Amino acid sequence: MCGIFGYCGNKPASNLLIEGLKRLEYRGYDSAGICVGVKDGFSIVKRTGKLKNLQKALPEKAYGRNGIVHTRWATHGGVTEANAHPHTDCTGKIAIVHNGIIENYAYLKERLQEKGHVFKSETDSEVIAHLIEERFKGNLTQAVMEILPLLKGTYGLIVMHQDCPDILVGARNGSPLVLGVGNDEMFLASDVAAMVSYTQQVVYLNDGEVVTLTPSEFITTDLESHPIEKDINTVEYQNENFDKQGFNDFMLKEIHEQPESIKRGLVGRLDKTGETGHLGGLNMTSADLLNVERIVLVAAGTSYYAGQTVSYLIEKLAHLPTKVELASELRYKNIIIEKNTLYFVISQSGETADTLFALRELKRKGAKVLGICNAVGSTIARETDGGVYIHSGPEIAVASTKAFTSQLTALYIFSLIMGRIRFLSNEQGSQFIKAFQNVPILIEEILSQKEHIHAVAEKYKGAKNFLFLGRGINYPVAMEGALKLKEISYIHAEGFGAGELKHGPIALINEETPSFMLIPKDSLYEKNVSNLKEIKARKGKVIALVTKGDTNVSKIADDIIEIPEIMEDFIPFLAVVPLQIFAYFVAKELGRDVDQPRNLAKSVTVE
Ligand code: AGP
Repeated sequence: MCGIFGYCGNKPASNLLIEGLKRLEYRGYDSAGICVGVKDGFSIVKRTGKLKNLQKALPEKAYGRNGIVHTRWATHGGVTEANAHPHTDCTGKIAIVHNGIIENYAYLKERLQEKGHVFKSETDSEVIAHLIEERFKGNLTQAVMEILPLLKGTYGLIVMHQDCPDILVGARNGSPLVLGVGNDEMFLASDVAAMVSYTQQVVYLNDGEVVTLTPSEFITTDLESHPIEKDINTVEYQNENFDKQGFNDFMLKEIHEQPESIKRGLVGRLDKTGETGHLGGLNMTSADLLNVERIVLVAAGTSYYAGQTVSYLIEKLAHLPTKVELASELRYKNIIIEKNTLYFVISQSGETADTLFALRELKRKGAKVLGICNAVGSTIARETDGGVYIHSGPEIAVASTKAFTSQLTALYIFSLIMGRIRFLSNEQGSQFIKAFQNVPILIEEILSQKEHIHAVAEKYKGAKNFLFLGRGINYPVAMEGALKLKEISYIHAEGFGAGELKHGPIALINEETPSFMLIPKDSLYEKNVSNLKEIKARKGKVIALVTKGDTNVSKIADDIIEIPEIMEDFIPFLAVVPLQIFAYFVAKELGRDVDQPRNLAKSVTVE
C-alpha cells in the first residue's frame, strides 16, 4: 500500500506535492520519488528511506506546475532507487505512480521486452508506463483507457506525459483514489489527507473510473469513455490532527486522545430517556433489528480484535449468536450466508483490501453488510449498506490505538441497542450507560500512570519473547496487546486465552520469557490467579494488570499495573490502554520508529 499524490494547477508543484506526501507516509515509507513537468521535460528525483531523504535531494528550483509523487511500501522488487516510483517508459516522456498490485505484470513485461522495451526496475508498476507508450498517439486519456483492460489486479494510478503538460490522468481499480477540486488547480491522491489543507472539496472515485484533470476542470468517465457525473463532497479539515501537538510521537498522542475520541463517539448516540443507544447510520428500525437472528463481524488486525471483544458483549446482552471472521480468510472460503444475519465489516481506514474484498464477496452472496469505519468517504464506508463512523479523528500512527477503543465504542452502543430490544430492562440499560459515560475519566486516570508503566517497560525491554494472557472478554484484549508489542518493538509476542496455558503454551514458560496477564476483578478472577501461580511455579516473570486495590495478586506477580474498578463489561476499554503504553515505551527504549515501524503500513490496500 503506497501513497500517491498528483497536482496540476497554477502553483509550483514540487513543495506542494512533498507537503501532501508527508500526510501519506503512513501508507508506506521505504522509498519516495517525485516527477515535476519542467520546460525541457521532466525533473525526476527518487530516494530510498524516509521522505526527508527525497526532500534533501530536491533541486533548488523546479517551477513546474504539474507533478506526481509517491511513497512506497515494496511489494515487487527490493527497496532501491530504481524501484522507487515514479516509473517512466522508454522515451522518458511518460511518468506514472501506482498503488496496488498488477498480478499479470510478468506476462506483460515479457511481451513488452520481446518488442524491445527496456525496463529499469523490478517492479510490477513499470509495465503500465511501457503499455501507455505503446498506445499513446497524442491523447493521454485514450491511451490510458486502452491499456487498463490489460491489467489484472489493483491500481490507483496517476499518469503524466511531457507532451500534455497541463494534464493528469487518474484511474482506480481496487485501490483508493480521491480527486480534490481547487481554484484553478486540481489534486489527485490515495487519501484525502494529502490535499485537505489545500481544498476541502473532494470527489471519491470508484473502481472502473478514469479521470482527466486540467487546472480548471475534471472529466470522469468509465473505461469506454462514457461520462460519469460525480458529486463534490465537502470534508472537514483540522490541522491539529496532523500535528503531534507536543507529543514525541503520533502514537503517544493518539493513546492520550482516547478519552476525547471515546466522548466524540458517544455524542448523540446514548438515549438517556429510553436507556438505549442510537445509531442512525444503521438504516434499520428496531423492528428490522428485532428480526436479526445472528451477527457476523469481519475485519483484520486490531479491528479484528475489536470485533472479537465486542462479540462477547453482543452475545451477553442480546443473546445473539455472534461470529468473528478474519477478512483475509472469509473472502476465499465459500461462506454460507444465512437468512436474518447482519454482517459488519470493521475498518479504521475503510480501505483494507482484505476487508473490502470480503465485503464485496458478502454482497455478491446477498448479505446485508454494515460498516464500522473511521475514514469518512472511504471505499468500505461507501460500499456498505449503511454503517457507523467512529469519529476517532485521523489515526496517523501505524499501530492502531484510539481507533480500537472508538470501534469498541460504536459496537458497544450497537450491543446496548440490541440488548434493549431483546432482553435488557430499562434499569439495566441505565446502569450500562452510567458505566459507559465513566470510561473516559477512568482512562485519564490510567494515563496518569504513564511513568510507572514506562518503568515496567524499561525493566522488560530485553525480552526476546513475550506472552499475553487474558480470559473471556479480555482474551481478545490480550491478543491486541501482543499485536501492539510485536508490531512496534519487533519482539516476538504471542497472545492466547489464559485457559489454554496448560494446553501447550506453558512449555514456553521460563525465566527469559515474561508474561503480561490481565487479572482484573471479574467473574474469571480466581481462574486467572491459578494461571498466574502456574507460571510462577515455573519461574516465569509476570506483569499483572489488576483492578486497583487488589492486594492478593501483588504478592505473587513480579510487577503490577492497576486499572480503576468498572462494570465488568467495560474492562476492555481500560485494560487495553496500559498494553498500548507498555508497547510504546518498550519500543521507544529499543529505539524503534514507533509511528512508522519497519515493514508495516497503515492502510493495507494490497492483499
Ligand atoms: C494495527 O495496529 C495494525 N496497524 C493493523 O493490524 C490494522 O489494524 C489492520 O491492518 C486493519 O486496518 P483497518 O482497521 O484500517 O482495516
